[in-house]
Amino acid sequence: MSELFCEGEYALLLLDRRRRYLVKLEKGKRFHTHRGFLDLDQIIGRPEGVAIESSMGVDFYVFKPSLWDYVESYERPTQILYPKDIGFILVYADIGPGCRVLEAGVGSGALTSFLAYHIRPTGRVYGYDVNPRFIEVARRNLERTGLLGYVELKLGDVYKGVDERDIDVAILDVPSPWLAIDPVYRSLKPGGFFVSFSPTIDQVEKLVESIEAHRGFIVLNVLESFTRSYKVRRGETRPETTMIAHTGYLLFARKLSLQF
Ligand SMILES: C[S@@+](CC[C@H](N)C(=O)[O-])C[C@H]1O[C@@H](n2cnc3c(N)ncnc32)[C@H](O)[C@@H]1O
Repeated sequence: MSELFCEGEYALLLLDRRRRYLVKLEKGKRFHTHRGFLDLDQIIGRPEGVAIESSMGVDFYVFKPSLWDYVESYERPTQILYPKDIGFILVYADIGPGCRVLEAGVGSGALTSFLAYHIRPTGRVYGYDVNPRFIEVARRNLERTGLLGYVELKLGDVYKGVDERDIDVAILDVPSPWLAIDPVYRSLKPGGFFVSFSPTIDQVEKLVESIEAHRGFIVLNVLESFTRSYKVRRGETRPETTMIAHTGYLLFARKLSLQF
């Protein structure tokens, strides 16, 4: 992508830490905010990081959006995974270029987007969801970020089985992950990573008991992570008043080489 802003691409307009807007650059159009409007023609042909003055004389800084900037603006009919959980998944399941990843359910495609971004250019994400509406939303979202080409979206129930074999990583964000243990076992290659995200601790208990009864995996870790943003001003530096206190628990396991 060119370093100067082009017509038709998206730009991120930053007013301050909280207020930011993702805007499609169209010639002759204006973007209205409570701090005045911006002529989008002012941005086209300019480099990243410049300040653009609104009609009320307020500076907005303009950047190319990050993947998370796009994902935050996604159509979201489902709850989505947050960066803190996505980051742990990418690191602990060793997801990188060339990985073949199985995911269920896809939901709005937030996690799918980061998986696709990291397995490029030679890997593939096989994303299952039981709800055709969510598959279509995820397709639109992935298309917008240019990542759809790395993903196969499939309408299907992971509890009933999946088509893929020799998968490197299988990731579940479904209500009853214990029902998918056998399909995941069959799809993974020996040593493959099994990750599950669950919002409640009783789901985690049931999943761990079921994995132990199955005997095809070794559980590596069960964790919950927290992040806090800080307000920084001399003499007043402290955590922000609000935070995302709970999203869910992550379970990481690896497939054992057993004969059943
Ligand atoms: C919370 S959403 C997943 C959100 C997703 N991780 C994201 O970051 O956008 C859970 C999804 O699981 C899907 N689902 C529930 N049971 C399923 C099953 N048995 N097989 C496949 N998908 C399932 C639901 O339709 C829903 O879209």
